[in-house]
Amino acid sequence: MYLPETVLTNKDIEAFCDTTDEWIRQRTGIEERHKVTPGEGTSDLALRASRMAIKNAGIALDDLDAVICCTVSPDQILPASANLLHGKLGLRDIASFDINAACSGFMAGLMTGNALIKSGVYKTILLVGAEIQTNRMTWKNRDTAVLFGDGAGAVILQASENGYGVLTTHLGSDGSNYEVLHLPLGGSREPFTKENLDEDAYTIYMKGPELFKRAVIKFVEVSQEALDAVGLTMDDIDLFVPHQANARIIEAAGQRMGIAPEKVVMNIQKTGNTTAASIPIALHEAVQEGRVKEGDHILMASFGAGLTWGAAIVRW
Ligand code: ACO
Repeated sequence: MYLPETVLTNKDIEAFCDTTDEWIRQRTGIEERHKVTPGEGTSDLALRASRMAIKNAGIALDDLDAVICCTVSPDQILPASANLLHGKLGLRDIASFDINAACSGFMAGLMTGNALIKSGVYKTILLVGAEIQTNRMTWKNRDTAVLFGDGAGAVILQASENGYGVLTTHLGSDGSNYEVLHLPLGGSREPFTKENLDEDAYTIYMKGPELFKRAVIKFVEVSQEALDAVGLTMDDIDLFVPHQANARIIEAAGQRMGIAPEKVVMNIQKTGNTTAASIPIALHEAVQEGRVKEGDHILMASFGAGLTWGAAIVRW
């Protein structure tokens, strides 16, 4: 994983946004988030995390058959950040492509990578979640501006035997309710023009409380779907790695799922919501902290813009 060196605390934000450290902590659990330096792009963050994943997995660059980058904040509109990452890693002419499924991006990437390996198309895949959100925040839009942070997390996917690895993956979406969380400007329907390219251009529209309720419900539903698919119960889960959207969403979902708080990974205090990067960052930290041992069942779950949701169970 990689988090940019610069830290933006809630107190820092108080200086240019109508908010308080206390409000942000109480309502979201966030204390600080990381912020890129000008000129850095999403593929630069992805590159750092990817190099670490390649080293930790003990593979050579030539072993890679494909690169998947999950992001809603690509370096450029064209081409994909996965292509830029491919170039920066100096890879041979293998496939590289982005996945945009917002906060469920990593779950979509895991489902895709897992299916490509199980079907025998590829043997080794670099899967990255990477985002830069802080440099396009509308700070007067305080309900969204305080939530997000920058970062990247990466994993190497390879086939495994004897019942280890990705046991099941699940995704869902509800496009009819996309307006619960969206950024309308700058795409093909409403391109940037001289008239609309002002300080509000990157405003994210969000119905926070509605999103909150839907997130809790879907976290629980999709997690149960994953458990049912492999005949496990919540008692069999050793670690829950949820998307880090809001500490209160994670706590509410955890309570409804009946999972012990000590089995829940929560790092949102230090990272904010890093969208598609949040699950691999949290997973990496849990592994580093010795919270994962061989044979453990890890449940991951996400909910986000789209609306999208997903879950996966891994036997480590
Ligand atoms: N600082 C200070 N006050 C604020 C801020 C802020 N940053 N933002 C909102 N407020 C005020 C509101 O204006 C409102 O004031 P009022 O009572 O005078 O009208 C008050 O705080 C309460 O606002 P609510 O929106 O009802 O607050 P809520 O407790 O629902 O928390 C929040 C808002 C944190 C956005 C919450 O709804 C949430 O986390 N929703 C999920 C959003 C989310 O996770 N989005 C990320 C992407 S999707 C995903 O990752 C799942």
